[in-house]
Amino acid sequence: MPTFRIAVLPGDGIGPEVIGQAIRVVEAAIRATDVAGSSATIRIEWVHFPWNSDYYRQHGRLLPADGFDQLRQFDAILFGAIGWPGVPDHVTIHSLLLPLRRKFDQYVNLRPAYLFEGVQSPLRDKAPGSIDMLVFRENTEGEYAPIGGRLYEETDQDIAIQTAVFTRRGCSRVMRAAFAAARKRRKKVTSITKSNALGFGMVLWDAVFRDIAREFPDIETQSLLVDAAAMDFVRKPESFDVVVATNLFGDILTDLSAIVTGSVGLAPSANINPERTYPSLFEPVHGSAPDIAGKGIANPLAAILSAAMMLEHLDCHIPANAIRTAVAAVLKAGIPRTPDLGGSATTAEVATVVAENLAGQR
Ligand code: NAI
Ligand code: MG
Repeated sequence: MPTFRIAVLPGDGIGPEVIGQAIRVVEAAIRATDVAGSSATIRIEWVHFPWNSDYYRQHGRLLPADGFDQLRQFDAILFGAIGWPGVPDHVTIHSLLLPLRRKFDQYVNLRPAYLFEGVQSPLRDKAPGSIDMLVFRENTEGEYAPIGGRLYEETDQDIAIQTAVFTRRGCSRVMRAAFAAARKRRKKVTSITKSNALGFGMVLWDAVFRDIAREFPDIETQSLLVDAAAMDFVRKPESFDVVVATNLFGDILTDLSAIVTGSVGLAPSANINPERTYPSLFEPVHGSAPDIAGKGIANPLAAILSAAMMLEHLDCHIPANAIRTAVAAVLKAGIPRTPDLGGSATTAEVATVVAENLAGQR
């Protein structure tokens, strides 16, 4: 019986609320798809880590000195969200999440956006399934590389230098992953650029895109400036299949792809180390949502779908598909739903119905 060890970092705010429900749903999916005595039976050992903004206030750091070494031992990481008023956001993100992505070489940040049946897009007349894109966000360099500095801080001469880092290796590997994924989909890759204004890094990005495209002659390509892409994500989101973007552009555009498919509360993501040298990390696209934290009304589906991406990565395709089927069925039924989707249900009520649907699939 394969056993997987998963590190759970619920984080701050709604992170623990949605991750608790995601774990419940994964357990329900495993029970529902378990064929007694079969070698396909899986078991998951969940190990929780309390590394969040509270931990930072108590210890002056977000995780212990050997924190990353501890996490390295796991098969995967399930992550909620990090960040809370009172602790500067750049401290939390740069102490835990961004170093994790780099140390574990999770260079593919995979962010699917799909308009489910039963979900109202804020865009008029969009049919279910008409928006179906997969964004590959470069996750280890680009604009989020911690290269730069601050001089004469808090004086009139205050200076900040923020440098973006683009390498041929870094661009190639995420683009190759995007093209390979497009082969299994609608065979189109759109590269997001800004080489008209950023004449070094983004010009290299474009050159590498053209080189990688030659390795995949069966794939249609398109290169869009990020401002035009922002418009087209709204104007004709159905024109996108696979999208490949830098760290910053991918971050911004995936909030947009999330909202045009109904809610950021529905958007899952995976930070993947394709070579599997290190554990990959699975997390909803959204943050800790301090405005609704503690109310029990966060949409758990983004976290639940992220957990399904984790099962997929662990080659547990049957429970992963079962979760996606259950989520689609619950969204199609229209109830229950959380306030972000126009309902009044709680986080737990939605997860309970997903778990019940899974039990019914047995
Ligand atoms: P956010 O994603 O937390 O919230 C934006 C808006 O979406 C809010 O109105 C919130 O209520 C709503 N929302 C988010 N998730 C929802 C869900 N599951 N169900 C229903 N509504 C949901 O982004 P914001 O407010 O910019 O950031 C809050 C904190 O989270 C900050 O400290 C930020 O740095 C952090 N953050 C952390 C991330 C991570 O850990 N990966 C990602 C994004 C933000
Ligand atoms: Mg973001």
